[in-house]
Amino acid sequence: MKFPEEVFSSQRFREQGAAVIELIANCMEDSISEKQNKVIEMTDPESAMREVQQWFNRCTVDDSKDVSKLFADIYQRTIRLHHPGYLGHQISPPLPDAALAALFSDFLNNGMGVFEMGIAGTAIERFVVKSLAKKMGFPESADGFLTSGGTLGNLTALLAARRAKAVGDVWESGVNRKTALLVSAQAHYCVDRSARVMGWGAEGVVKVPVKEDFTMDVEQLELTLQTARAEGLEVIAVVGSACSTATGTFDDLEGIGAFCQQHGLWFHVDGAHGAASVYSKQYADRVKGLHLADSVVMDFHKLLMTPALATAVLFKEEKWAAKNFAQKAEYLWDDANHVDDWHDLAKRTFECTKSMIALKVFTILAVHGERVFDENVTTLYRSASEFGGLLERAEDFELATLPQSNIVCFRFTPKGEHDLDLLNRKVREELLSTGEFYIVQTTLRGQVWLRTTIANPFTKISHFENLIDEIRRVGNGVFVD
Ligand SMILES: Cc1ncc(COP(=O)(O)O)c(C=O)c1O
Repeated sequence: MKFPEEVFSSQRFREQGAAVIELIANCMEDSISEKQNKVIEMTDPESAMREVQQWFNRCTVDDSKDVSKLFADIYQRTIRLHHPGYLGHQISPPLPDAALAALFSDFLNNGMGVFEMGIAGTAIERFVVKSLAKKMGFPESADGFLTSGGTLGNLTALLAARRAKAVGDVWESGVNRKTALLVSAQAHYCVDRSARVMGWGAEGVVKVPVKEDFTMDVEQLELTLQTARAEGLEVIAVVGSACSTATGTFDDLEGIGAFCQQHGLWFHVDGAHGAASVYSKQYADRVKGLHLADSVVMDFHKLLMTPALATAVLFKEEKWAAKNFAQKAEYLWDDANHVDDWHDLAKRTFECTKSMIALKVFTILAVHGERVFDENVTTLYRSASEFGGLLERAEDFELATLPQSNIVCFRFTPKGEHDLDLLNRKVREELLSTGEFYIVQTTLRGQVWLRTTIANPFTKISHFENLIDEIRRVGNGVFVD
């Protein structure tokens, strides 16, 4: 193809686009209907590399240069989130309209760092952020932005916490004190990573013990704080998990909020997964007290059917959205100290060039309304609770804790003397190789547990019954072999 005319040909795009959309529609249909019976077709990394070489070779000699053929090959080795047997890590099957928004945004490729590089995208982002802040019960003045993932979102919020609460100006003078935050032992690893990135070292994350249901034991906060201070740590924040990654259970945000207020600490909520509960009329009380937070992170790609990555970082006080990174960049804007320019997003986010993340969320809201978020969150939480009920009633299964969100942890515990850790590990391995269900595993109380995230509104009680039967079949086979 001649560059640039043929490579950028709108006619070719029209034809290829139609073929790709047809392919995607078929993939979605076949997954949802389970005509495509596998969620995953597992292989080893070296074989995957060999296949990539084959796809590449096939494409280079194919005169049609048909990208839909290439994508059809690739689809065979991707995990299929629209399949009802997808019960793995926390990511949503995207709404088709949101996937189209992602395609449109990828075509536009607006840089978004400064207003003129993303006029619509910047205003849309503000619309999304303001409407989410309102939904979370924050005052009108609350503000924030969207960024690329909960991991980066949590780091950004914690940088603001440091700026707000740490003694001295770390931004200018660097780290010279032993700063720390308090967080439950069940928090996502990115909180620990953030503390280390900020130069606080391993000591910078002080673990608060958890209760039976794996939520923070708020009663232990006072003692944990006093002990940390006695050890010379300057504790500046408490991070609540809403919910925790492994078990999907929610810390007591009202309790943590009151504690932070009493001690003048920054209250950050890692709501990457479960802050989306605010959209569910039935389950919004899971995040009671969220509005007490100084900052909140929420992923749209975990529960809200938005293609990854789409994360909101919100601050109760607008100034922290604006003041976090005060830096000069003369080629981008005239006066970096003029902090309230909400429309120059590179002043607020870690990123400089930034994709039009908000378009994906805005499209869902504009076309389907908040109702679709409510329906998804409510359906998934309800399904998880039904699945939990099945497991509770089954004598050969044990539930780690009653599900509070769409995450359910359990293990297969047949009668007899078995190494249950080994058994459950083997069960997962076998499920992964047969590929009709995709589930993951975690370690709780030093034991191996199977872990599911109900991500798909098409997953029904019959799927859970089949999964339980399949685990029994596979698990019982482990001892025969
Ligand atoms: C509670 C929590 N926080 C943060 C993250 C990280 O989010 P992301 O994968 O969007 O970086 C996760 C991901 O599973 C999570 O569950």
